[in-house]
Amino acid sequence: MGTVRFVFVLLAFLCCSSSRFAGAYDPLDPNGDITINWDFQSLDVKDANPYTVMVSIHNNQLYRHIERPGWRLSWNWAGKEVIWGTWGAEATEQGDCSRFGGGNRPHCCQKRPVMVDLPPGTPYNQQVDNCCRGGVLSSLTQSNRTSVAAFQMTVGEYAAAKDGGGKEPEMPWGFDVGVPGYSCSNATKVPPTRSKVDKNRHVQVLLTWQVTCSYSQYRESGAQSCCVSLSTFYNSDIVSCPRCSCGCQGTPTSPRCVAGGEPGTLALPAGGGDDDEPAAPLVRCSEHMCPIRVHWHVKVNYRKYWRVKMTVSNYNLVRNYSDWNLVLQHPNLRSLTQLFSFNYKPLVEYGTFNDTGMFWGIRFYNEMLLQDGNVQTEMILEKNEGEFTFSGGWAFPRRVYFDGHECVMPPADQYPALPNGASAARRRSLLAGPSLLLLSFLALLV
Ligand SMILES: *[C@@H]1O[C@H](CO)[C@@H](O)[C@H](O)[C@H]1NC(C)=O
Ligand SMILES: *[C@@H]1O[C@H](CO)[C@@H](O)[C@H](O)[C@H]1NC(C)=O
Ligand SMILES: *[C@@H]1O[C@H](CO)[C@@H](O)[C@H](O)[C@H]1NC(C)=O
Ligand SMILES: *[C@@H]1O[C@H](CO)[C@@H](O)[C@H](O)[C@H]1NC(C)=O
Repeated sequence: MGTVRFVFVLLAFLCCSSSRFAGAYDPLDPNGDITINWDFQSLDVKDANPYTVMVSIHNNQLYRHIERPGWRLSWNWAGKEVIWGTWGAEATEQGDCSRFGGGNRPHCCQKRPVMVDLPPGTPYNQQVDNCCRGGVLSSLTQSNRTSVAAFQMTVGEYAAAKDGGGKEPEMPWGFDVGVPGYSCSNATKVPPTRSKVDKNRHVQVLLTWQVTCSYSQYRESGAQSCCVSLSTFYNSDIVSCPRCSCGCQGTPTSPRCVAGGEPGTLALPAGGGDDDEPAAPLVRCSEHMCPIRVHWHVKVNYRKYWRVKMTVSNYNLVRNYSDWNLVLQHPNLRSLTQLFSFNYKPLVEYGTFNDTGMFWGIRFYNEMLLQDGNVQTEMILEKNEGEFTFSGGWAFPRRVYFDGHECVMPPADQYPALPNGASAARRRSLLAGPSLLLLSFLALLV
């Protein structure tokens, strides 16, 4: 019985844990989701007066953020609802409002409206708090202030819910945040939220509906976008990103690329800028063809400490990554002693897992990873007693994620070796490493 269970767990582990997260559960961010609240500020169902609702979108994810072109929230109305007016966002289409004749027409009569955030700089009288950032949502770790978006709308022509005793409108359904990889639940009624109207006062809304959207890498199709290369002070070999990590040059799935030239000297197609859609990737040609490369260099060995230099290079020639972040797994991160030029926060701190952390740029300094540019850090780690070693690839990161996407690592048997013929021992520990990890993982599961 025990053996059967063991084998089953082993199979489950092998099939599902390889590199992508199974389902929507992310062990690095177990509570990460996007929550959408509909807070009713006025509601007079009896006389079917238009109601006013504040819709807010909260990114509760520690390291995933929503980048341009931003969220596009859509849903299906339960009945014949129309949106009379909006603040802080707008519907992409007005739809067929002909039944309202001339004069005063609604903002949107579509059965399935698509709402988008307004751009920064929107006139003040069209704004609400937390609006108008072009659909961008920060990760919770990077800024809990800009991880929320909101808009307000006035809705008319609605019907009362049959099971709500006629006191509430019928709930819309089929929610979608319009960002690849996310899927949303139906709305549920939750205890009404309080909202802050000024520094000292909170008001209670009349009714709150809540929708939860979760991310899964399985749902987000598409090629890899990032790879890792390695080097050390003790070996002159540089282990590059695996060939074709993000596609092979010239194949239909790989991004277009530009060869040669010094950085900054290439003639680039005009565009990008303030357009809604980001330009299709155009990368500097390379063996790996990834828009992002993370280079980990083991730089110095001190008696009690060691030093790593990490460089994140943007090979994409038409894209700046604003508010980029990097999630890294390495057993020595818990003894990170000093870090230059980046922000850092440990990410997972439960039980024995304390080996994952998040790095991101410093505001007004390197929070933006420029097209064809790079950002760098050096860090000093205290050697963990009885654990630290330069052999067996221990000094290299186990996993790396850029902007929430897992990066392709070189195969372990290509890691830079120690010079003094320690290769047999090295090979043994390379094999022992993962299986020990597997065993300790199983011990936790069973
Ligand atoms: C938001 O972050 C700031 C500083 O990073 C912190 O002081 C504050 O408590 C946070 N607010 C919430 C609601 O988590
Ligand atoms: C959501 O609600 C719609 C309409 O009430 C229903 O058809 C659908 O099955 C529901 N979906 C889920 C996942 O419950
Ligand atoms: C990236 O930022 C630089 C400097 O701010 C700017 O010149 C360039 O146009 C930006 N590129 C895109 C694609 O937005
Ligand atoms: C994890 O590491 C941090 C230092 O990076 C330390 O402050 C914290 O106490 C550690 N947590 C556990 C559970 O070991």
